[in-house]
Amino acid sequence: MAEVVKKPIKITETILRDAHQSLIATRMTTEQMLPIVDKLDKVGYHSVECWGGATFDASLRFLKEDPWDRLRKFRDGFKNTKLQMLFRGQNILGYRPYADDVVEYFVQKSIANGIDIIRIFDCLNDLRNLQTAVKASNKEKGHAQVALSYTLGDAYTMDYWVDMAKKVEDMGANSICIKDMAGLLVPYKATELVTALKEAVDIPIQLHTHYTSGVASMTYLKAVEAGVDVLDTAMSPFALGTSQPATEVMVETFKGTPYDTGFDQNLLAEIADYFRPIRDEALESGLLNPKNLGVNIKTLLYQVPGGMLSNLTSQLKEQHAEDKFYDVLEEVPRVRKDLGEPPLVTPSSQIVGTQAVFNVIMGERYKMVTKETKDVLSGKYGATVKPFDPEVQKKCIGDTEPITCRPADLIPDELDTLRSEMAQWSEQEEDVLSYALFPQVATEFFKYREAQKTKVDPKVADTENGAYPV
Ligand code: CO
Repeated sequence: MAEVVKKPIKITETILRDAHQSLIATRMTTEQMLPIVDKLDKVGYHSVECWGGATFDASLRFLKEDPWDRLRKFRDGFKNTKLQMLFRGQNILGYRPYADDVVEYFVQKSIANGIDIIRIFDCLNDLRNLQTAVKASNKEKGHAQVALSYTLGDAYTMDYWVDMAKKVEDMGANSICIKDMAGLLVPYKATELVTALKEAVDIPIQLHTHYTSGVASMTYLKAVEAGVDVLDTAMSPFALGTSQPATEVMVETFKGTPYDTGFDQNLLAEIADYFRPIRDEALESGLLNPKNLGVNIKTLLYQVPGGMLSNLTSQLKEQHAEDKFYDVLEEVPRVRKDLGEPPLVTPSSQIVGTQAVFNVIMGERYKMVTKETKDVLSGKYGATVKPFDPEVQKKCIGDTEPITCRPADLIPDELDTLRSEMAQWSEQEEDVLSYALFPQVATEFFKYREAQKTKVDPKVADTENGAYPV
């Protein structure tokens, strides 16, 4: 009998990044994460996704933590596991395109502080927006993984994905990720897509999806059978719903097959025991909304990622227009079409979503136009797969001549200016990068950091007075 060829599936654990970003608004603190790092490090993961995406913004803005410090603590704790981050191409971890010098420096510092694998995507799938980050990762000897932002639409044919994958490989990527933000990749389509990509390129293929539409674990099964190399999963307390399929479930699914991960379920159970109280606490405080844990079939109908649905709800709440939710949901695909049918992922998801809200509540489409919508229609975020709607473009930007070059070619180097703007706050070289991404939020954080230093420890003060605190 012919020997069965073993091909253990590799796993990227997302509990320290996407899982809590998707379920509890990225609010897990470094203090909550560190005690379990040692056990996570023993599992045998291909990598742990632990940085980038919204974690950077949320750390500074809501948790008053230095994201660089978090990264260094992870690097100290994870002795055997590769650390992975998510990177928005030319937009870095922010919401607009940056100059090349900022992108290069950010990549350099991410790797210097401990990142091994950088997953780089562009919200329009414009390859020109990936070049600088990929080149910088190569230069710093990091692993550059390029993500295809997966979406549906006339233009997104199998040929489109295959062509993009080949170009990504030629560009110098070390692996490719199919990044399915909204859970739109259904199981049999995954067979088709993974098969086509495996035939087209030699570098490994990783699959990232969300459970939002309820098909994710079936999609993983079909993708594995079709030859996918790595899957993204989250430990069960922060899996499913708008997050990823559960790690333990995937491990069990492939046990005893050629795809066996070899992971120890007892160790995984101990890790799950650690995270369960954090989940319970989040449910109790309302941070984890049970609504996000179920199947949201609207995501398939409207092709809106889970995170975007909750954003729309809160925007409408602010405007006291919650009754307009379904009108906005129907407006989203129309705005997306007007804007060249881009994938919906940060920042294009926010741009399309906010414009859809304005179009509905103003009672007239594009009566009020955001700066970002104008920038998209002026080519400042890059090229879209389809042309813009000419009438909408005219209404929004008038006679302004749209640009067609790589947007960053028109952005002069920024680092020197940024350095001089924030010089008074600088305590480490990385601070200028925090400031570059979020000038106001980072400044607030720097002020907070400063104030912490001069704050008198109450225990010390009491002791000096001869009294001990009770
Ligand atoms: Co994701």
